[in-house]
Amino acid sequence: MSKDSLTITDNRTGKTYEVPVQDGAIRAIDLRQIKTADDDFGLMTFDPAFTNTAACKSRITFIDGDKGILNYRGYPIEQLAEKSSYLETAYLILHGELPSRSQYEAWTYNITHHTLVHENIKDVMDGFRYDAHPMGMLMSTVAALSTFYPAAKNVHDAQVRRDQIFRLMAKMPTLAAFAYRRSVGLPYSYPDNELSYCGNFLQMMFKMSGKYTVNPVLEKALEVLFILHADHEQNCSTSAMRNVGSSEVDPYSATAAAIAALFGPLHGGANEAVLRMLKQIGSRENVAAFIKDVKGSGGEVRLMGFGHRVYKNYDPRAKIIKKMADQVFEVTGRNPLLDIALELERIALSDEYFIKRKLYPNVDFYSGLIYQAMGFPVDLFPVLFAIPRTSGWLAQWEEMLTDPDTKIARPRQLYLGSPARDYVPLSARG
Ligand code: CMC
Repeated sequence: MSKDSLTITDNRTGKTYEVPVQDGAIRAIDLRQIKTADDDFGLMTFDPAFTNTAACKSRITFIDGDKGILNYRGYPIEQLAEKSSYLETAYLILHGELPSRSQYEAWTYNITHHTLVHENIKDVMDGFRYDAHPMGMLMSTVAALSTFYPAAKNVHDAQVRRDQIFRLMAKMPTLAAFAYRRSVGLPYSYPDNELSYCGNFLQMMFKMSGKYTVNPVLEKALEVLFILHADHEQNCSTSAMRNVGSSEVDPYSATAAAIAALFGPLHGGANEAVLRMLKQIGSRENVAAFIKDVKGSGGEVRLMGFGHRVYKNYDPRAKIIKKMADQVFEVTGRNPLLDIALELERIALSDEYFIKRKLYPNVDFYSGLIYQAMGFPVDLFPVLFAIPRTSGWLAQWEEMLTDPDTKIARPRQLYLGSPARDYVPLSARG
């Protein structure tokens, strides 16, 4: 008879312990009873990058990294990308079910009618240097929003949470577009409530004088890209959102922390890094030499947009983006860097180094090529990741706050430093 438990023998003491196994995991705290003496603190696990530690229970996103499967609330990403819209997918992620028509209309209305930001935000934007990175501007202005909505700190009030969710979802594109227009010296373009979420964002980004007509192919492409980026379970930025949020700080401050985590080149900054890498390679002829550099660098030079902690197969999001690229390029013209990207992929996927380490293109490998063709500047790419990921961050934040297991995040350490010792005055030190 199999039992849902694990028997552990401590070879240091010869003692045996039985700990329960639930949902395929043991509770790390159950190991604390394993001691070599009464004054021993107890056994801990050591997992610095959380490679095998579940930090929460979640019902939002499922990934099977070996098979290349990504589902939101059980729905395959491929079906959502083909049939849903970003706002509908965001509703699903946040509420657990697809909306009815009236729920969808109310959701869309509420988000559409929270897109304006307080005029003082423009002063915050104007305080940045002309060459400020838009991700830094987004991070700071999202944090600044917490000062405009002090009631947001009541994180255990469901209605308060709802209001901030509408605001954050709605204002993110406005802040992103304002950051861009500030950096190029264009007057801010205010939200247009007649347009869709993505159509309005394009308008706020690119409208010049006169009427702006949204191109339906580009609007649809952005919808798909936003759907693909909406959530990705416990990645670095989502963990930041949950960890920071577990202190019960307001969601603007927690989202600013998540944006900071996303900014790094190993995470959401990778799409920007891919484009810079492709430009640096310069032509198809240089690809083989670049791959050689990557392989010979001992991990220092990376093929950006390749590899993933969880996917050990082709990232399903990269597959969808690669297919969509042609539709976008029909409108915008082909991005000349695509040939370099295709050659990189071809060589990498047939090279022993990448095969052995199961390194495949991830979501960031092709997304930047599309964004660039659509006219987005390279340093806006991580911002384009942050806008849709906001729905995932907020869903995970709310799930964390309403989970009875939640406590403030506070990891343990293995202290390997000096034992206790007496202070030596400066005059007595050698
Ligand atoms: N190019 C070359 N070698 C790589 C790469 C790469 N992109 N990624 C991993 N490796 C090698 C690495 O050097 C190591 O080799 P060895 O076993 O000889 O030491 C092995 O593969 C395992 O790498 P790792 O760093 O231990 O893997 P990880 O799970 O800690 O890192 C990763 C995952 C995504 C940070 C990493 O693959 C990477 O740096 N990729 C490039 C950056 C990137 O595209 N990031 C976007 C991730 S997807 C979107 C998102 O989450 O934001």
